Amino acid sequence: MSQRDGDAITLRRVSRRYGSGGGAVSALDEVSLAFPRGSFTAVMGPSGSGKSTLLQCAAGLDRPTSGSVTLGGTELTGLGERRLTLLRRERVGFVFQAFNLLPALTAEQNVALPLRLAGRRVPRARIREALHQVGLGDRARHRPAELSGGQQQRVALARALVTRPEVLFADEPTGALDSRTGHEVLTLLRGMVDREGQTVVMVTHDPVAASRADRVVFLVDGRVHGELTGAGADTVAARMAGLEAAPC
Ligand SMILES: Nc1ncnc2c1ncn2[C@@H]1O[C@H](COP(=O)(O)OP(=O)(O)OP(=O)(O)O)[C@@H](O)[C@H]1O
Ligand SMILES: [Mg+2]
Repeated sequence: MSQRDGDAITLRRVSRRYGSGGGAVSALDEVSLAFPRGSFTAVMGPSGSGKSTLLQCAAGLDRPTSGSVTLGGTELTGLGERRLTLLRRERVGFVFQAFNLLPALTAEQNVALPLRLAGRRVPRARIREALHQVGLGDRARHRPAELSGGQQQRVALARALVTRPEVLFADEPTGALDSRTGHEVLTLLRGMVDREGQTVVMVTHDPVAASRADRVVFLVDGRVHGELTGAGADTVAARMAGLEAAPC
């Protein structure tokens, strides 16, 4: 199967196993999915179903045990670390489930990091704009320990936005936010897709957040377990309740 031009990311029969023998865990089991360019996809599933592993394999942060991932027309399998790192820097933004901010750096220094790492100029106005977009224009000089969990999450989001990536992967970006701030972050993500044509893949446990996406993909035990398109929060919640009640 070759990648369709319209797809930002394609996973073909991607498996990720941890360990070996009796203690082996199959975090992903032959997952095949395509994420069209300019689309917003939510990934849902019970805890441990492989959502974070899926995002990390799709973003080139983790290597599948088997199967292949194509990102922006480039097949990641077989790329060396150096080329993989460059590709991630150029094209991908990632918001981690744990925010992964550097504690010694201020909010604006954390946001500037991807540009610095890529050896690019760091226009202060651009950093301030990214912080402003996530509602933290007045916290630029604060270090992570001086910020609340939700504020740290928003710094992590600003850091992922600052390079204007083709694809943004976000692992529970609204998990630590109150509903108003969560709503603002989702509006920001929606705007990236609708106005800039960027591609967003977001893990969430929240049916309301998932309903802002174009499509919701469900994972159970490392396998795709159906999807919904254009579904409202109630429909998403009912499907999730069904999955969580399903016998193993
Ligand atoms: N480094 C690792 N070593 C061994 N097992 C792992 C490792 N990382 C993840 N796993 C296992 O892989 C499975 C999938 O984990 P993953 O983190 O992708 O789940 P998740 O759907 O993101 O869960 P959550 O909703 O709790 O964040 C789990 O059973 C987990 O224990
Ligand atoms: Mg996870």
